[in-house]
Amino acid sequence: MRIGIIGAASMGGILASHLARLGHHVLIANSRGPESLTALAAEFGATPVSVVDAAKATEIVILAIPTKAVADLPPGLFANVPSSVIVVDIGNYHPELRDGHIDAIDRGMPDSRWVAQQIGYPVIKAFNNIFAKSLLAKGVPKGTRGRIALSLYGDSSDAKSAVLRLVDDLGFDPIDGGILDDSWRQQTGTPAYCRDLEAAALRRALAEADQGRVAEYRAEEEARISRSLQQAGKEESSSMTNKEDFSITLLLENTPREVFDAINNVRAWWSGENKGRTDRLGEFEHRDGDMHHCTINITELAPGNKVHWRVVDNYFDFVSDKSEWKDTDIVFEIARSEREIGGNQTT
Ligand SMILES: NC(=O)c1ccc[n+]([C@@H]2O[C@H](COP(=O)([O-])OP(=O)(O)OC[C@H]3O[C@@H](n4cnc5c(N)ncnc54)[C@H](OP(=O)(O)O)[C@@H]3O)[C@@H](O)[C@H]2O)c1
Repeated sequence: MRIGIIGAASMGGILASHLARLGHHVLIANSRGPESLTALAAEFGATPVSVVDAAKATEIVILAIPTKAVADLPPGLFANVPSSVIVVDIGNYHPELRDGHIDAIDRGMPDSRWVAQQIGYPVIKAFNNIFAKSLLAKGVPKGTRGRIALSLYGDSSDAKSAVLRLVDDLGFDPIDGGILDDSWRQQTGTPAYCRDLEAAALRRALAEADQGRVAEYRAEEEARISRSLQQAGKEESSSMTNKEDFSITLLLENTPREVFDAINNVRAWWSGENKGRTDRLGEFEHRDGDMHHCTINITELAPGNKVHWRVVDNYFDFVSDKSEWKDTDIVFEIARSEREIGGNQTT
């Protein structure tokens, strides 16, 4: 099959590699254009394309992007797509940590129903309830003892059959959970969310989910992620010294992509105010009252790998050497396999 994947970070990348290995022709896109994806796509065995091309001339299109980014997709992206094409939404809504609040979802609309409305095309919700590390490594042949099950939801039986086959081919027991309006049962933090359950246990967990608690499940999961980030902060392997070079290593219970996103969400971890985008290349300004202000140039953003800042200008009111920090580099290196974030090296 020709499969288009929009989003080339952890989940998009893993799906691309696995699907290419199964013999599918995979077209992959990100927000920055195919030129930015040449090396990565080659690694996945996929063809780098634009978002428009990923949605065109494919039999399945997988949306592997943050929920908030769905609203940024080109208008009318699916307007002329034949109705035989299947669109799969793997997204999870994270209002506090990443996406900002989306009223309709906050009022109870299932995440993927909102996505379908935004793009004006029906979607199947799948692959949202497995963490990237399990998707990467835990698929096994049919019949293997302990095989993880993955459920999906959608309104078209034909489309669901095709995606159920794909789930099976990828090494997981496929379960048809029901219609899209019931897909809240596998949203963020529900009993069926990312727990690597076998088929019978997954069915029980889906049945156990309580629609009245969807927002609570999500908030609990977001709080769990925040706690693990804070805990990691406390586990600094070394403390600040007077040395000119300073580095720390943080061990986190998160995927490299989550760590990358958390670093770029500067507002969430650095008190004070920011002016300008902190998740795009270029400059932003930071100010914490009269105590500290600085201008930082984000010179490199390698999703799941590295964030590089250059301190262009800086003022601390609590140090005598007012040139401190100016013209230094702050480098966040994220190691995928060890799930380890190397810290902030100031040189
Ligand atoms: N990570 C997990 O374990 C996991 C598990 C299940 C489900 N999910 C969900 O799956 C989705 C993908 O997650 P992820 O962790 O792989 O990465 P992510 O950080 O949510 O997505 C980043 C990817 O989306 C692309 N993107 C962002 N805006 C775009 C736009 N407007 N047009 C085209 N591409 C755009 C980015 O491209 P650029 O880098 O060029 O901006 C990047 O490749 C999310 O909704 C997530 O909640 C994640």
